[in-house]
Amino acid sequence: MLSRAKELLQETKEFKAKSLEEVEAFRIKLLGSKGEIKKLFAEFRNVAAEEKKEFGAVLNQLKDQAQQKVDELKADLAGSAAKEVTSSFDFTRPTTLNEIGSRHPISIIKNEIIEIFNRIGFQVSEGPEIEDDWHNFSALNFPPEHPARDMQDTFFVEKDPDIALRTHTSSVQVRVMENSTPPIRTISPGRVYRNEAISARAHCFFHQVEGLYIDKNVSFADLRQTLLYFAQEMFGKETKIRLRPSYFPFTEPSAEMDVSCTICSGKGCNVCKYTGYLEILGCGMVDPNVLENCGIDSKVYSGFAFGMGVERIAQLKYNVNDLRLYSENDKGFLDQFKAAL
Ligand code: PHE
Repeated sequence: MLSRAKELLQETKEFKAKSLEEVEAFRIKLLGSKGEIKKLFAEFRNVAAEEKKEFGAVLNQLKDQAQQKVDELKADLAGSAAKEVTSSFDFTRPTTLNEIGSRHPISIIKNEIIEIFNRIGFQVSEGPEIEDDWHNFSALNFPPEHPARDMQDTFFVEKDPDIALRTHTSSVQVRVMENSTPPIRTISPGRVYRNEAISARAHCFFHQVEGLYIDKNVSFADLRQTLLYFAQEMFGKETKIRLRPSYFPFTEPSAEMDVSCTICSGKGCNVCKYTGYLEILGCGMVDPNVLENCGIDSKVYSGFAFGMGVERIAQLKYNVNDLRLYSENDKGFLDQFKAAL
C-alpha cells in the first residue's frame, strides 16, 4: 500500500496537462469519489500498525499535492486560453472606417478650369498675393488717381501705400509678360482680395483664373472661339455665349461674357432673371499700353486676356447661392462634394 501511495505521489509531481480535459481526467482518477486516494484511505485500516504513521503522512501529502496540482494546472490553462482570445485577431469583424476628406468645391472647379485650358496649350503661372502698385495697377494701365482703381476696393498695407493684397490675378500676367517673350499662353489661378462687406453675394476674398494669350496676329475672333470652347467644355456642348461691350483699363476693346442659363438653357427662369443668360467673365484685347509697359512690342504682337471668378463658376455648377458657404468649413456642406473627387 505504501509503495502504491508513493508511486502516485511521484506521478502527481510529474503530471503535465495540455488541456483542461486532461486535468479533469487526472482529478477524477486521483481525487474523485471513486478515485485512487479514496481507495487508499479505505485501505488504511488494513495497513500494519508500524506502517500506519508513514502511510498516513504519505497519503495526506498525496491528497494535498494532487489537489494543488489540479488547481495550478486549471489556472494555467484557463489563463492561456484567455490570452489566446485577446491576442487572436478576428478577421471577420467589421472595421472602423478611417474617414477620408474631400476636395474643396473651389479646388475641384479650379482644377477643372485648368484642365480645360491645358488641353489647348495654356500653362499655369502663379505669383504673390501681396503685390506692389506696379503689378496690380500701374502696369495694367490704371493711372494714379484714375477712378478705375475704385472698381476694385483694395486692401492696402498701412505703412506702405505701394503694397496691397492683389485685387486680381492680372498681376501675375504682368509678371509673365515681363519675364518671357511671346508666344505666351498662360492662365493664372489664385486667391484675390477686395475690401467688400461680407454677404451672400460678396466676400473679402475669392478666387480667380485669368488667362492671357499673346502672339502675332491674335484677334478678337480667337478670343471669342477660345471662350466658346471653354464654356462648352465647362457647361456642356449646347452652351451658347454672348459678349457685351464693357470697360477694363487693361483691355481695348473690352467685353463681359454671358453663358446661356445653366438652369433653363436660355428659356428664362428666376436664376437668369428671365434673360436666358448668366454673366461669368470679363475679357478683351490686351491694351497696347500694357504690352509696352511689360516690354512687349505692340506693333508686332497682340493678345487677349480674360478673367473669371471660380466661386461664380462653382455657384452655377453646384447651385450654391451663398458665397459665404465656401469659407465656413461646414462639414455637412463640404461632404456633399465627396462624389465629385
Ligand atoms: N481683372 C479683371 C477682374 O478682376 C478680369 C479681366 C481679366 C477682365 C482680363 C478683362 C481681361 O475683374
